[in-house]
Amino acid sequence: MLHPTYPILSDRLVLRPFREEDLDAFHAIQRREDVVRYLYWEPRSLAESEEMLGRRILQVAIDKAGDSVHLAAELRSTGEMIGHFNLLFVSEEHRQGEIGFVMHPDHHGHGYATEAARVMLRLGFEDLGLHRIAARCDARNDASWRLMERLGMRREAHLIENEFVKGEWTDELDYAMLDREWRALAG
Ligand SMILES: CC(C)(COP(=O)(O)OP(=O)(O)OC[C@H]1O[C@@H](n2cnc3c(N)ncnc32)[C@H](O)[C@@H]1OP(=O)(O)O)[C@@H](O)C(=O)NCCC(=O)NCCS
Repeated sequence: MLHPTYPILSDRLVLRPFREEDLDAFHAIQRREDVVRYLYWEPRSLAESEEMLGRRILQVAIDKAGDSVHLAAELRSTGEMIGHFNLLFVSEEHRQGEIGFVMHPDHHGHGYATEAARVMLRLGFEDLGLHRIAARCDARNDASWRLMERLGMRREAHLIENEFVKGEWTDELDYAMLDREWRALAG
């Protein structure tokens, strides 16, 4: 089970639960066409962002398979909320998890997503005791699979037209890392 002590600090970021005051920053991300291009949903209205934020606020711990932790990433230097990161507990029996990440485009290109995603991997491997953590994306989502490779995840599959999303057949890239690979990376 995973009940982290918040906030979690990395070099340049604070990872913490969402709160109601995040609505403007959360919506600034959720409303953008370029952000959701390779995600399953369309840009969100303010009401939809508010409803989603209300759910995310509650997702701070993992007690059973199917639970997720969703965290806001904030710049330590300015306090600005720049993205969100999640860890899903996929299976207790098989000790499997999955991570996800979404950043505001104004903050791409600084390695912030890599830094925050490493925190999510650490939570999954070291605190939740997972054996394997996966991540997946649309095969055209270069920024996403490049991030998975920076993290040291392994490309395990390129699924061909496995889903019909936004009116077209899409390919999916599947990446993963094992606990022993995480320990080797951590040195
Ligand atoms: C996927 C996503 C989070 C990646 O963001 P990103 O900014 O490319 O990733 P990072 O923050 O790790 O930054 C990496 C870039 O910063 C550079 N960088 C600068 N300083 C760095 C540092 N200290 N550490 C690592 N990278 C650094 C890297 O070289 C890389 O640049 P490049 O893309 O030109 O090679 C972002 O594109 C996104 O939010 N997309 C929309 C939502 C989405 O599709 N999410 C994925 C769903 S599967």
